[in-house]
Amino acid sequence: MSTVSTSGATEPSHVTQTRTAYDTVAVDYARLLDGELARSPLDRALLGHFAELVESGGGGPVVDVGCGPGRITGHLASLGLDVSGIDLSPAMVSEAQRRHPDIAFSTGSLAALDLADASVAGVVAWYSVIHRPPPLLPDVFAELHRVIRPNGLLLLAFQLGGFTVRHEQAYGHEVTFEAHRHDPDSVTGQLGQAGFRVTVRTERAAQDYEKTPQAFLLARRE
Ligand SMILES: C[S@@+](CC[C@H](N)C(=O)[O-])C[C@H]1O[C@@H](n2cnc3c(N)ncnc32)[C@H](O)[C@@H]1O
Repeated sequence: MSTVSTSGATEPSHVTQTRTAYDTVAVDYARLLDGELARSPLDRALLGHFAELVESGGGGPVVDVGCGPGRITGHLASLGLDVSGIDLSPAMVSEAQRRHPDIAFSTGSLAALDLADASVAGVVAWYSVIHRPPPLLPDVFAELHRVIRPNGLLLLAFQLGGFTVRHEQAYGHEVTFEAHRHDPDSVTGQLGQAGFRVTVRTERAAQDYEKTPQAFLLARRE
């Protein structure tokens, strides 16, 4: 499993900024989002759909990339999947490992995964591509295409809108980072160019504390 350098010597500044922000908020993020999935039947339905398709395709390893404190990773494990988690933020990985001692978590980047070609049956990226500027998404989709086996699955969740929000505060902390409200049409096109076929596209209105509608794309690697 991978470990990213935290020196930031060559990485883009948005990556360093995102890691610093999530390292700062990790414990409170985990606490504040506790129980969130239990209140989101559509989210559970989509994750359940993904899990059933992985199993009916013969099973195999699944990776939750940008797993944060592991709330989705833990849910996927409870559905019977052989799942591990990878995140940019060491503090998030520690929090995930503390909460889910039986699951393997490691630090790593969406854009350069320490995984062999065609080695996983599926990837879930649940609100982790939101910190990737739209022009840099194709690099991530190319990397996910490399690690997912043919006919394997990719499930994405992200806030939609086609604009960027700069945060100066989050989860009770003063932190600076950007979140991109991606455009589902553009993302669908980029997935197609990377060699994925989108099979499910769902959008829902903002609920509870959310400020923007949410998009979910399930795609199959060609
Ligand atoms: C909004 S949180 C979502 C966490 C988790 N998926 C969930 O739904 O609770 C975004 C997560 O993506 C991670 N992340 C952001 N950019 C990343 C990258 N380039 N590679 C890996 N993880 C990344 C952050 O560290 C953070 O934990």
